[in-house]
Amino acid sequence: MDRVKGKVAVVTGAARGIGRACALRLAEEGAAVAVTDLLDDEGQGVVDEITSNGGRAAYWKLDVCNEAAVERVFNETADRWGRLDIIVNNAGIAGPAEPTDKINEADWDKLFAVNVKGVFFGTKHAVPHLRKAGGGSIINMSSIYGLVGAADAPAYHAAKGAVTLMSKNDALLYAGEDIRVNAVHPGFIRTPMVEQADEEFDGQLIPAVTAKTPVGRLGDPDDIAWAVVYLASDESRFVTGSSLVVDGGYTAK
Ligand SMILES: NC(=O)c1ccc[n+]([C@@H]2O[C@H](COP(=O)([O-])OP(=O)(O)OC[C@H]3O[C@@H](n4cnc5c(N)ncnc54)[C@H](O)[C@@H]3O)[C@@H](O)[C@H]2O)c1
Repeated sequence: MDRVKGKVAVVTGAARGIGRACALRLAEEGAAVAVTDLLDDEGQGVVDEITSNGGRAAYWKLDVCNEAAVERVFNETADRWGRLDIIVNNAGIAGPAEPTDKINEADWDKLFAVNVKGVFFGTKHAVPHLRKAGGGSIINMSSIYGLVGAADAPAYHAAKGAVTLMSKNDALLYAGEDIRVNAVHPGFIRTPMVEQADEEFDGQLIPAVTAKTPVGRLGDPDDIAWAVVYLASDESRFVTGSSLVVDGGYTAK
């Protein structure tokens, strides 16, 4: 309890999956949480769950590709709760599961708009608020696919690789202002993203990635959310520019 008490957080893509778990756990640990997503009903459902448990949260519709909207929602969050301390740049899409020589430009650009430009906008418009608060924590959702190859999803790998290095470089840029920037690298986590991909691959994906995960199971969204709570809290005050891998041993090989 109270690991992030008094802090104010924005979580993008918070209506379901990993983002939802991050919002729930941050609120449980005392943060006021802006739950932001494109999915209004699911997003409001997360807010209702938090407030019915005595937490503080509100929902904003937010497409992370829309810079003006990102700036407005961050301003409204800070106006509502008086400050902004934590941004979880979580929103992401899987994109085309095709080899590089088959991907079309529009699919590549769409993936980069959400997974890379969305993190850029989230960081750009968080920094002035974190500066005003005297510091803060930016947590970028990369992936094991931002660390190692897997001979699939080339655009996703390229985008998550970008997020990994954006996190390290921004950590250096803002370290002197006590604004920490870290990346989290989930392995395969049971979320709607993975379940939908499994359906597209006729139920072959989850067994295949389970077999590649040394602990022999997929992760749970809370496995990632607790890593995010750590990076959001003052427990990690000396941690910046790090890559926190939460993958059941996938990249240990
Ligand atoms: N699930 C995994 O195995 C896994 C592994 C590594 C990394 N990740 C990353 O974790 C993050 C969350 O993944 P997830 O598995 O929970 O996915 P998910 O699809 O279950 O949830 C993603 C959420 O992001 C929202 N979203 C999508 N595009 C958006 C946009 N333009 N603006 C705002 N919100 C948008 C969706 O509506 C959805 O609620 C992503 O960045 C993903 O790449 C997931």
